[in-house]
Amino acid sequence: MAVDLLLGLQWGDEGKGKIVDVFTSKYDIIARFQGGPNAGHTLVFNGRKHVLHTIPSGIFHDNTINLVGNGVVIDPVIFKKELDKLDEQNVDYKKSLCISRKAHIILPTHRLLDAASEASKGKAKIGSTLKGIGPTYMDKTGRNGIRVGDIEMADWKKKYRALADKHEAMISFYNVDIEYNLNELESEFFKAIDTLKSLQFIDSEDYIHKAQVEGKSILAEGAQGSLLDIDFGTYPYVTSSNTTAAGACTGLGVAPSKIGDVFGIFKAYTTRVGSGPFPTELFDEDGETMGRVGHEFGATTGRPRRCGWLDLVALRYACQVNGVTQLIMMKGDVLSGFERLKVCTAYDYKGKTISHLPYNIESENVKPIYTELKGWSADLTEMTKASELPQEFNDYVTFLENELEIPITIVSVGPDRKQTIIRKEV
Ligand code: IMP
Repeated sequence: MAVDLLLGLQWGDEGKGKIVDVFTSKYDIIARFQGGPNAGHTLVFNGRKHVLHTIPSGIFHDNTINLVGNGVVIDPVIFKKELDKLDEQNVDYKKSLCISRKAHIILPTHRLLDAASEASKGKAKIGSTLKGIGPTYMDKTGRNGIRVGDIEMADWKKKYRALADKHEAMISFYNVDIEYNLNELESEFFKAIDTLKSLQFIDSEDYIHKAQVEGKSILAEGAQGSLLDIDFGTYPYVTSSNTTAAGACTGLGVAPSKIGDVFGIFKAYTTRVGSGPFPTELFDEDGETMGRVGHEFGATTGRPRRCGWLDLVALRYACQVNGVTQLIMMKGDVLSGFERLKVCTAYDYKGKTISHLPYNIESENVKPIYTELKGWSADLTEMTKASELPQEFNDYVTFLENELEIPITIVSVGPDRKQTIIRKEV
């Protein structure tokens, strides 16, 4: 059976966790394929909020396998904290959670290196979540990394020591003030490694291949968003993995010919956390309202998110790079009460009107060109059927569909599982 993908189309925080949770009952396996604890996937059900960082968002459903793929980077300490939270809620993950032996491990010194690298950049910093993501992927591509499978091998601590010592030398090379106690960090790390070892490690590409042959349904859950992709995002203000559809192939071992539906998720407006260009960013009351009403604070770092109007130039680009087949629009409810809504349909790029995403979208080169639409005043959060949605909301959604030429099949009108409206059955 083909593997379906669910991906964020903006700068992350689109609400992937919620939709994976809503979709999980239709799938046998939910698989994460990239990123790590820089992600914060928020799920709300039965009046309770749950935030997952590395564990796939299908974990709260019985009978669903949750797989952490080879493309993911795992911080054992954060992973253990996630497991502790699941224990508190009596979630039985021992049988349903499995980890690829080829996933790379974030060492305590990777986190320190991240901090040192960011501190050394001054104003040019990426605005990283400081979870050690960049340095871990650097060690992966530099062929120095430590993988989950290594911790089953006799000599892995020797490998660990050599790498951690090298990292310490690199930290001092940065010549920035980073205070740390490696003994303490290591003691926490090795305890967490023991917890990790109590879980099922698998040869995940083989597992996924067999599951496909057996006709099992699989949903690959993306982290971050397409505009943070290491190749296609707003480099260098990006994360260090391929967040786009191709990343699911390399991060799980799924052949491109075996990809089925590609669900693309976007917010009805745009947010970004961390540094980097953002053509439709608002610095006025409208942006402040979006942030306040939308509770736009990072689920991992708590940082306020920058807010702005929807950018269709960037969204169209993300749809193309990912081959999106269905769109899901999140947080439409946050726009209730705006008299007029703006949507960026083109850019003024150095004096020329363009409709594709150019190499550089810094504000000195790009000015957004907007189309205005009428807003709606009704509160959408109690609505459960497409027939209840106001006309102006439907006009907004239809405008986006026509511009993007992809159906918007689901709209989300609040954080709870229940606040999800199917617009079109495909
Ligand atoms: P890193 O991946 O932690 O190094 O962060 C690189 C950039 O990606 C920073 O701008 C982060 O704010 C952003 N970023 C990383 N993960 C997420 C996420 O899950 N949601 C939103 N932004 C993210």
